[in-house]
Amino acid sequence: MDLKLENIKVKDIVKGVNLEVNKGETKVLLGKNGAGKTTLARAIAGLIDYEGNIYLENKKIDKLKPYERVKQGITYVLQNPPELPHLNVKRLFYAITTNDNLISNYLKMFHLPSTILNKRLTSKEISGGERKKIEVISALLLKPKIMILDEVDAGLDIKSKKILAELLKQHTALVITHDVDFAKMVGKKVAIMENGKIIKEGKAEVIKDYVGEN
Ligand SMILES: Nc1ncnc2c1ncn2[C@@H]1O[C@H](COP(=O)(O)OP(=O)(O)OP(=O)(O)O)[C@@H](O)[C@H]1O
Ligand SMILES: [Mg+2]
Repeated sequence: MDLKLENIKVKDIVKGVNLEVNKGETKVLLGKNGAGKTTLARAIAGLIDYEGNIYLENKKIDKLKPYERVKQGITYVLQNPPELPHLNVKRLFYAITTNDNLISNYLKMFHLPSTILNKRLTSKEISGGERKKIEVISALLLKPKIMILDEVDAGLDIKSKKILAELLKQHTALVITHDVDFAKMVGKKVAIMENGKIIKEGKAEVIKDYVGEN
């Protein structure tokens, strides 16, 4: 087991979540707007206070600060990354690694031109989908034990979604999404969150129930 959540509670938003993501597994977290998915992700990343226990490889990480959790191998790709006008893509990547080959391979994989390296992290210079790809690449460069991806597929074109899905299958990840087709591409295992709780968990078939309820 890589990540284990035990009775996680955040205010009256997350109401006692138990969830496990095993090594090498991509688990999808599906849920409607306001279900509490981002709040749960923020708790895992250590960005907000919560009750309950979080274990990474059987070690409790509840006392660790966000950057310490990143060091331990948890990376969280935000639903809405902030504008960072003082930073260009190359400087962002170089803060993690100066391995140009690795960076260039990831750029190619996501069909991003190398000229993007000189662009600043603002919506004026980089499109929404490009920004999502850059965030995913940063997360991958950190060589995480587990990635928490919060709606990274939103705004990606279908080809890019397929590339991302294939890549995620090779990693351990908790993938938060609304997109049922993307969920099917990515996850053999699916958890459905409603009103702060995991109401159903299982193999991809549980997606049918989720779609049926909407
Ligand atoms: N800091 C906060 N203070 C008060 N309420 C909050 C806070 N953060 C989130 N909420 C509320 O908690 C609920 C869950 O929000 P959250 O962002 O976790 O949902 P979500 O499942 O990620 O939704 P979406 O699919 O729209 O991204 C919402 O009703 C939201 O308004
Ligand atoms: Mg959210």
